[in-house]
Amino acid sequence: MQDYKNTYEESLSNNDAFWLEKAQQRLTWMRPPSVALQGGFKDLDFTWFADGQLNASVQCLDRHLAAQGEKTAIIWAKDEPGEYEHISYNDLHARVCRMANLLQSQGVERGDRVCLYLPMVPELAVAMLACARIGAIHSIVFAGFSAAALRDRIVDAQCALVITADEGLRGGKRVPLKEITDAAVEQCPCVETVLVVKRSGAKVAMKPGRDRWIAPLLSAAPARFEPVCMNAEDPLFILYTSGSTGQPKGVQHSTAGYMLYAGFTHEMVFDLRPDDVYFCAADIGWVTGHTYIIYGPLANGATTVMFESTPLYPNASRYWQVVEDLKVSSFYTAPTAIRAIACEGDAPVLAHDRSSLRVLGTVGEPISPEVWQWYHDCVGEGRCSVVDTWWQTETGGILISPLPGVTPTKAGSATLPLFGIEPLLVDDEGMELPGEASGNLCLARSWPGQARTIYGDHERFAKTYFGRFPGRYFTGDGCRRDADGYYWITGRVDDVINVSGHRLGTAEVEAILIAHPGVAEAAVVGCPHAIKGTGIYVYIQCADGFGDELEKALCACVRKAIGGIAVPDTIQRVPGLPKTRSGKIMRRILRQVAQGNYTDLGDVSTLADPSVVSAIIAGHAGQK
Ligand code: PRX
Repeated sequence: MQDYKNTYEESLSNNDAFWLEKAQQRLTWMRPPSVALQGGFKDLDFTWFADGQLNASVQCLDRHLAAQGEKTAIIWAKDEPGEYEHISYNDLHARVCRMANLLQSQGVERGDRVCLYLPMVPELAVAMLACARIGAIHSIVFAGFSAAALRDRIVDAQCALVITADEGLRGGKRVPLKEITDAAVEQCPCVETVLVVKRSGAKVAMKPGRDRWIAPLLSAAPARFEPVCMNAEDPLFILYTSGSTGQPKGVQHSTAGYMLYAGFTHEMVFDLRPDDVYFCAADIGWVTGHTYIIYGPLANGATTVMFESTPLYPNASRYWQVVEDLKVSSFYTAPTAIRAIACEGDAPVLAHDRSSLRVLGTVGEPISPEVWQWYHDCVGEGRCSVVDTWWQTETGGILISPLPGVTPTKAGSATLPLFGIEPLLVDDEGMELPGEASGNLCLARSWPGQARTIYGDHERFAKTYFGRFPGRYFTGDGCRRDADGYYWITGRVDDVINVSGHRLGTAEVEAILIAHPGVAEAAVVGCPHAIKGTGIYVYIQCADGFGDELEKALCACVRKAIGGIAVPDTIQRVPGLPKTRSGKIMRRILRQVAQGNYTDLGDVSTLADPSVVSAIIAGHAGQK
């Protein structure tokens, strides 16, 4: 622990030297950088290693070939239990080169955006790295999003090429990805080409001149492709995420800083060893998959598992079966999955040999001390390190986490910052809170993995993250620091909710509900949910003449506009929303009632019509 403290102090006091040395040691450069951080949080012009040049795919592939070309890079665990496919670094390199040649032959050039709307199949990893090899920017859209959500993301990034699959296979179910893509692309004038991976073999429509099966094109493409020399600060990818207002934003990451941070944190937080089999059960459609299934592990020359299925298919033993089959050493998932499995008791866990496990990670939402303890005691047999890792799409990688075997853990705390990371708590006025305190979690200085901008909208970037507390990056999270300096994330303090570890803007859902003629007004808040962590609780004031079918219709609208993850858990009809005299909805009251807290509602005297509160409470109580 003393070593951690010394290195941590050193990383802050000699921040530039710390990161420059790491960058020089850990990355393979075409031209090594001479500078670390330039610019900062004042003008929001920060860059890292700006005069360096490199290619991200070289970090993940080429540099490993000589020493460990035959080592397994990716183990694809298919939807059906027991079905695995091993892909060596040599194979992966060849497949990426073929894909890069194919993309280039379709007109993709450096700086172009490519949309990947794919299930968890190897082609997704291959396409990411092929984009990186060309210098194109990938924009991955989670394959659970609807056609409308896909369309908006394609249009925002102006992608000319989309890669999808005939169908996705997940938990024994089929997801009609090509059909969804067709519906989306119909409304995207920018799209010229759709390449289709055959996964299920389902019959799908192929539009002549636009759609092509990918397999024959790949086998015809050469297996060599010279990586393009990129500048350190060139964008590597865009990933859309929800905020408290408006449309999802395209969080844009850099090449060198992101790659350094991904590899560095992956090695450190999972205490990576040469023969490890590392299994992150996230989907690559989210940032966890980008950083900790693909870029981090492959930069480290590790063996990484790509899991196509779900934690409950065919039963609650599935993860542990994979652990036993593949002799997994590190396992990384979200609390929502742990809760879903824990519900089924210990037996499904105990049914499989987990002696290979050493590190258990969690991410995406606060983990309660009870669930942490179950993960530690039951899954980890009390002998594995549990790492509760706190980070965000915008941070690129983990910022606060224990280090296995180093940091003494406390159940439910993400513990301490990683090297070079300087968290800071401020009150609502932006005053720094020292020592033991609760407040808004900010970061005092930049780190290499930090997002550089929102695609096409630097002003929104400035406003969203630096507007409220100028000179500091505001995370949107509330947090407590205890007497030992440990951080306890308490959840979002803005209008973002974390549903099953997926980030959702309440305003996004409200906009869809209000568009329905049956809804006069709507407000969406989070409510406690045993499995999802946070459920989606909706209050609506109905227009006249809409009967029982309305709720179902609203759920269908949300599914269509965003996807299954955003469908409300509860819809409560109310005679009116609690509004101040100036017309502002008092969400605090709605949040509290949704939590079943009726007594401690604070000052309601400023409401235009205080009587709506008792009606809302009565309605909520009546639902139980
Ligand atoms: O509220 C925090 C929560 O997830 C948010 C970030 O969501 P997203 O960008 O989708 O990235 C999720 C995966 C990195 C954060 O603002 N969060 C993430 N990790 C934790 C967490 N909350 C508590 N504890 C964590 N370990």
